Amino acid sequence: MNVFRGIAEFKEWRAKVPQGVSVGFVPTMGALHNGHAALLARSSQESDITILSIFVNPTQFGATEDLSRYPRTIEDDLALARRLRVDAVLLPEVSDVYPDGYSTSVSENVVSEPLCGIFRPGHFEGVATIVLKLFLWVKPNTAYFGLKDAQQFFVVQKVVRDLDLDIKICGVETIREVSGLALSSRNRYLSKNAQELIAPKIFLHLNQLKDAALERQLNEALLADAKNALTKLGFLVQYLEARTLPALGVPSPDDLLSTDLVIAFAGILEGTRLIDNVLVLHRFRKIS
Ligand code: PAJ
Repeated sequence: MNVFRGIAEFKEWRAKVPQGVSVGFVPTMGALHNGHAALLARSSQESDITILSIFVNPTQFGATEDLSRYPRTIEDDLALARRLRVDAVLLPEVSDVYPDGYSTSVSENVVSEPLCGIFRPGHFEGVATIVLKLFLWVKPNTAYFGLKDAQQFFVVQKVVRDLDLDIKICGVETIREVSGLALSSRNRYLSKNAQELIAPKIFLHLNQLKDAALERQLNEALLADAKNALTKLGFLVQYLEARTLPALGVPSPDDLLSTDLVIAFAGILEGTRLIDNVLVLHRFRKIS
């Protein structure tokens, strides 16, 4: 496995990958778990070579967020990547990505606005910018993103469409604990009780709302009930909303019954911010 700590060596290596070899790309911030592994496995299945990047991107963290305590487990990450037969790992330095005087950013202004866009101002601009920069270095045919971060997936998909990049964006199902809790690098900050008994309730409520939507029974009152139930369990709920796909617009009462939706949650538990969502796809539609 090739591990590149500097961008110059990576570019040299990338230039030698023959035309016609398909390149799958999985961008991450490290602290890899089975969710990341699912993206890497999907890439290996579908692409000739798989490139992983690990970069904790400072510009997508707000001033009060957890950048400094973001977990860094690089040796374990590299061991996992080796086991999964990743071909190359790119570990850029902050100075590679944002050299002195750097002043350019990419902002998508519709899909990025609601949900996390409200609670994390500037977050998706940071994401769109780093993802585009990584795409320009890696030049993937296909890039893999987790549907766990559904809004991120739809923002990246929109940027790729708007800028007419020739890259397929593939969304991979959320990997969960048996309890239903979505795997996340941040779960390690929760107490055992919160991990095993409280946080799994997010998925339970999301699934009940999804069932209601599929039975064409979803309405604002049901969403509000679920939000209250999670608040009573100890979450500081930031949002629990249904939004239309793929632009994440506000659904009308009719949309709640018949349109493809994401039902998305964000909330803080024991000081740790958790997000999760379920997609409601009518008519056997597939997202990727
Ligand atoms: P990170 O949080 O490390 O996630 C990297 C990728 O793994 C994302 O596409 C995310 O959606 C996916 N992922 C995380 N948990 C998952 C789970 N339980 N199941 C399936 N996929 C999961 O997302 C980022 O990094 C950054 O914003 C990044 C795109 C790298 C830009 O900095």
